[in-house]
Amino acid sequence: MDRIRIVGGRKLNGTIPISGAKNAALPLMIAALLTDDTLILDNVPRLADVAQLQRILGNHGVDITAVGKRVGDQKYQGQTLRISAAHIIDTTAPYELVSRMRASFWVIAPLLARMHEARVSLPGGCAIGTRPVDLLIMAMEKLGAEISIDGGYVIAKAPGGLRGGSIAFPKVTVGGTHVSLMAASLARGTTVIENAACEPEVTDVAACLNKMGARIEGAGTSRIVVEGVDKLHGAQHAVLPDRIEAGTYAMAVAMTGGDVQLSGARPELLQSALDVLTAAGAEISVNDDGIRIARNGAGIRPVTVSTAPFPGFPTDLQAQLMALMVHAQGASEITETIFENRFMHVQELARFGARISLDGETARIDGIARLRGAPVMATDLRASVSLVIAGLAAEGETMVNRVYHLDRGFERLEDKLKACGASIERISD
Ligand code: EPZ
Repeated sequence: MDRIRIVGGRKLNGTIPISGAKNAALPLMIAALLTDDTLILDNVPRLADVAQLQRILGNHGVDITAVGKRVGDQKYQGQTLRISAAHIIDTTAPYELVSRMRASFWVIAPLLARMHEARVSLPGGCAIGTRPVDLLIMAMEKLGAEISIDGGYVIAKAPGGLRGGSIAFPKVTVGGTHVSLMAASLARGTTVIENAACEPEVTDVAACLNKMGARIEGAGTSRIVVEGVDKLHGAQHAVLPDRIEAGTYAMAVAMTGGDVQLSGARPELLQSALDVLTAAGAEISVNDDGIRIARNGAGIRPVTVSTAPFPGFPTDLQAQLMALMVHAQGASEITETIFENRFMHVQELARFGARISLDGETARIDGIARLRGAPVMATDLRASVSLVIAGLAAEGETMVNRVYHLDRGFERLEDKLKACGASIERISD
């Protein structure tokens, strides 16, 4: 398995291009199941999760081709995928495939809406908490689906097709909102989604569905109304830039010091994180190309932050912020409100010398002046990248094991950091 070796202590200076958002690309690819026409997605990041979803969709009979290089393409340009679900030959998403990526459970919605049946394996346990699918099932039932669970599979049927309904989520769920949008788009009548997720990835999926002929209003707010249509058609859509990737590199620059342009990043997608970084002592400016982040001279100031649904501080940046706070001049507090067990990075950050104590869902971090490199490993994507951030500022060598997790969500991480002066390399055994 690949490892990443970092020799810390270098400032980051230069430009980092921001890729398309993983968490938009995945539901957008799944939305292609809703039509027998071709959906063309531009700016799709080259990630292990995208490749895995290609295999899952392939199992349903979907053809996916990646468009080849074109004149003028940039080195880091995302790929264009042509996705055609003209013939869905299998409505089962098997355990072997779904257990490897939770988002693949979302195929239940388009399969149910278009084929009136789906058999999808329960996604199973996950390193960041129990992550049930009860709310997704509730949403499908509200649209008229009959659901049973047998042998670890969710079996969903809607013999006469789905019908519009009223879905009120007791808590904000991104996946629940995605599946509701997809299912309601092909349901008969009107669907109202209350307490919908406002995440930019939801807005992006709704925009693409509307290009495909759906009638969705209110995406980006907590109340979304969908008028069902009989059929959706093909469309072309570019995946929005990855706010979590941008926020991650911004944390890295705040950690090491230096001055980096995050090319293609959109500040309105991560304002809460930029506000926290400013409070922590980073200088942030917005320009036509994206976001510029610098920290020169000043130390890192401690902050108190709670994660929250958008537009709050994202749970997907919590681990990275914690790595930054390990190096702060004082004590900081980070509270995780979205997932109950998203603190696996705490014990690994301790290997750098970090002093972190946990009290329920709150971590208290007593900043230290010097981090020391160490061999580390994490079982989750964002936790893994927090170890990279710590390694970039630590004295000596850090070896990040199980790089597989990084490859799931960060495109060419080591190339992007190396181009800004980091001493970082991938070691393939
Ligand atoms: C999405 O997961 C993201 N994944 C996650 O990113 C992200 O952390 C999360 O949203 C929150 O922003 C993708 O987009 C592929 P949720 P999702 O449903 O949709 C509870 C990453 O690192 N819940 O919004 O699965 C759940 O347990 C990943 O890129 C139920 O109780 O998250 C959690 O506490 C990790 N019942 C809360 O809701 C349900 O049926 C929010 O989860 C569904 C969710």
